[in-house]
Amino acid sequence: MSAADRVLGIETSCDDTSVAVLEDGRTLKSHLLASQDLHRLYGGVVPELAARAHLELLPRLVERALDEAGVRPADLTAVAVTRAPGLVGSLVVGVAFAKAYGYALGIPVVGVNHIEAHLHAASLEHGEAAMPAIALVVSGGHTELVEMQAFGRYRWLGSTRDDAVGEAYDKVAKRLGLPFPGGPHVDKLAAQGDPKSFDFPRPMLDRSDFDFSFSGLKTAVALEADRLGEPPFDPARVANLCASFQAAVVDTLAGKTMRAVRHVGARSLTLGGGVACNRALRARLAAECEAASVTLRIPTPRLCADNAAMVALVGAWTLESAPYTVESLEQGLEVVASLEETGLIEARV
Ligand code: KG4
Ligand code: ZN
Repeated sequence: MSAADRVLGIETSCDDTSVAVLEDGRTLKSHLLASQDLHRLYGGVVPELAARAHLELLPRLVERALDEAGVRPADLTAVAVTRAPGLVGSLVVGVAFAKAYGYALGIPVVGVNHIEAHLHAASLEHGEAAMPAIALVVSGGHTELVEMQAFGRYRWLGSTRDDAVGEAYDKVAKRLGLPFPGGPHVDKLAAQGDPKSFDFPRPMLDRSDFDFSFSGLKTAVALEADRLGEPPFDPARVANLCASFQAAVVDTLAGKTMRAVRHVGARSLTLGGGVACNRALRARLAAECEAASVTLRIPTPRLCADNAAMVALVGAWTLESAPYTVESLEQGLEVVASLEETGLIEARV
């Protein structure tokens, strides 16, 4: 029996509490996700409330996930938990729970990098990526372009210099009076508008690096929104603003991503993160990948968003692929907020 046989995955890095049971590093036996709706009241995630909600939800979700998987705690062979990056309070709840649970059962606890988990979420449905691969992770907290050379070997190509793309979606939506999180609402309205009605900037698209910037674009949209007058706004104008904003985002993301694909001669492209649910982005990359004979791997929406299945998968593959000791696993459980501090970039290239 190997430690990777039956892994309990735990994800609590932001405002989603999620638990999964994964067998043989591939077969999902159960997968539960509790989105914390309470943040809608505040128009954004409140870290203190998120941590408290994880504390309340986690034990109940674990019990239910084991039940649904038909697995007893004693049948588990390891616990995998997101340890970085994320909201520190939220991460601490997950890691402390995982440590206590693993200790009580006498099984290893492996800390997982949240971004690495997004890189491999598509593997749950599509199998392992053909390497070299490019991954675009786009969410409320991240905009990362990564070259994947093998499992555990990555090179960071670029990321956002200011707002994450999901954050820009959410702020534009808020300015237009749409509910939080705004991405899905903007996506829906964009389909009814004219993407050419406003000529918004394609930030940093003409530069040869792989970095992004969405704050200027967000401000350009806000300036146009100022001209809408008092609410309720004209729905046709709002739809046109959404469509034009989305066209600028998709041009920028697709332009840089396909340049990265050509740059490393990638055989496949993987998407991850909540913004990977965006229909225009999916359609555009599908067309470009087909033309370039590159395999496009997009997880189902449930696996695009923050989830414990991808955490269990990376935990299982880590246990399978690297020699470990109780001490080395213990070191890998340090909670860290930012991606730069995780050391994943330098340590693994
Ligand atoms: O990965 P995720 O569930 O949570 C984190 O941020 O970590 O991503 C949520 C983000 C939010 O900013 C949300 O507005 C955005 O993903 N999002 C979308 C769409 N669905 C979710 N953005 C654009 N189009 C969508 N269809
Ligand atoms: Zn995420």
